Amino acid sequence: MEELPYRTILCDVLVVGAGGAGCRAAIEATKYNLDVIMLSKELLGKAHTAMAEGGYNVSLGNVDPDDNPETHFKDTIVGGNYLNDQALAEILVRDASERVFDLEEMGAVFDRTPEGKIAQRPFGKQSWRRTAYASDRTGSEIMVTLVEAVRKSAVRVYDEIFATKLLLHDGRIAGVTAIDLKYGDYMIFRAKAVVMATGGAGRVYTVTSNAQLDVGDGYAMAYEAGCDLIDMEMVQFHPTGMVKPESARGRLVTEAVRGEGGILLNSEGERFMHRYYPGVMELAGRDQVARSIMTEVREGRGSPDGGVYLSISHLPRSIIEFRLESMIEQFEDAGVDIRDEPMQVSPTCHHFMGGIKIDEEAGTNIPGLFAAGECTGGVHGGNRLGGNALADTQVFGALSGESAAKFAKEHEMTGLPKEKAMKEFLKLEAMLKREKGISPADARKELTDLMWTKVQIFRKEEEMAFAVKELRRIENEVVPKIKVDVAEKRFNPGWHQAIEFGHMVTTARMVAEAALIRKGSRGAHYRVDADPEDDGYYNIVVRKGANGDMELTKQELIITKITPP
Ligand code: FUM
Repeated sequence: MEELPYRTILCDVLVVGAGGAGCRAAIEATKYNLDVIMLSKELLGKAHTAMAEGGYNVSLGNVDPDDNPETHFKDTIVGGNYLNDQALAEILVRDASERVFDLEEMGAVFDRTPEGKIAQRPFGKQSWRRTAYASDRTGSEIMVTLVEAVRKSAVRVYDEIFATKLLLHDGRIAGVTAIDLKYGDYMIFRAKAVVMATGGAGRVYTVTSNAQLDVGDGYAMAYEAGCDLIDMEMVQFHPTGMVKPESARGRLVTEAVRGEGGILLNSEGERFMHRYYPGVMELAGRDQVARSIMTEVREGRGSPDGGVYLSISHLPRSIIEFRLESMIEQFEDAGVDIRDEPMQVSPTCHHFMGGIKIDEEAGTNIPGLFAAGECTGGVHGGNRLGGNALADTQVFGALSGESAAKFAKEHEMTGLPKEKAMKEFLKLEAMLKREKGISPADARKELTDLMWTKVQIFRKEEEMAFAVKELRRIENEVVPKIKVDVAEKRFNPGWHQAIEFGHMVTTARMVAEAALIRKGSRGAHYRVDADPEDDGYYNIVVRKGANGDMELTKQELIITKITPP
């Protein structure tokens, strides 16, 4: 086999991803006196977590004293349409408070009640006000805090490194292959234990609230390595993304706007949520509000730019200015003063509930491989509650870091699967050397438009079947022909896009294939042609079969406490 030059770097625990979950995992793992490396695809601090706005769910009872972890658990399960792995949801609600106090100890400043306790606001489909916040830039406050803690710790951070493939040796995790995004060098990171904290994949849809790097790297790498993934069909469309300007389309308009009292209006000035969910109105589940908005638009009562209106001008200016300061700035840039004028909003792809299947130690089915945060599935079931994602990053970040550290303490480094690494490097190199081929930008547009139009909020059998057929064709005919315009390894975003494209296709296929076999509507998976309307409660597990084909199996729910109705 041809050989390409590469660098090898060794450590005890390797964390892939440097958002909320990755940073928290790395911080935890260093407590075990181990050599910990964290790979950041962006400059450290720029992960998607920094874009989270509204808050962190934790049943402190600071505002509503009757709240407790039991109620938080129940809301999470009912909100998840009972598809959650209940053991994981129990861990989430149990540890959310300890982890928020960790953040405070590290220096995070949350807004306060008049008594000086952490303030908590209402979010959709929750029994009590339990969402802790720092105005409407909670994710940014958390990321700044975590980055500072990482910098003060012994964690070795490698910025702008793109992990491309998980390496296994005798069935155990051995490390990852990667490229240095600046200089194009090939690298192998070897580790005794690896934590995947690679975030979500909103970027497989045309309209999304997600950061550029959320292309599904972790899902695809885990799938290729032989991990089980769960609930991949469950994609959350946040009801309120920006509609215009076009360059900001999909940008998140936080649920906190509705939590603080914002109302949704159609083009006739009607507060239409009365007709859909009269009890809870704008604070119905995200899937419910998103479908209500899209129904208004489809039936001709939308705004001129294809959304609806979200208004908070009836609230005291001081509330808007103090609690929604980023929203003011965000819309000022679009020429709208939200203190006086309504915002135009429509749904945007926001969160993947599905992902790598983990156990109660954040372990996967590959020994030595752990995972945390949005790249995992099971915690949130069929629909995540707003505010549960930031809590997830901290709870499962810490847990995965601890488990990986313990594993690394008990195991030696595996051998180096050099041939597998070299095969990967040659595949990446081929994208630069191909004489003719398809541009990654064109291929990406085709893929994201396909997902946005065919595997969307309202799903139909024939559209999903079409998407599956197309995705299989893209995987077989387009991916092998991806050609980078400039054959240069240094500073070449075209090459990075080309590599990402393979991950996007694998991820999109998992979503579409799983969506096609879930015949009934459940949670975020809404079939307009559901037949039967309710086909029961189950999870869908996706894995790469022994013959290399995608295998999908229906699996019984993991119930510890609450049985579906
Ligand atoms: O609307 C928001 O602020 C988003 C929060 C979340 O997805 O948890």
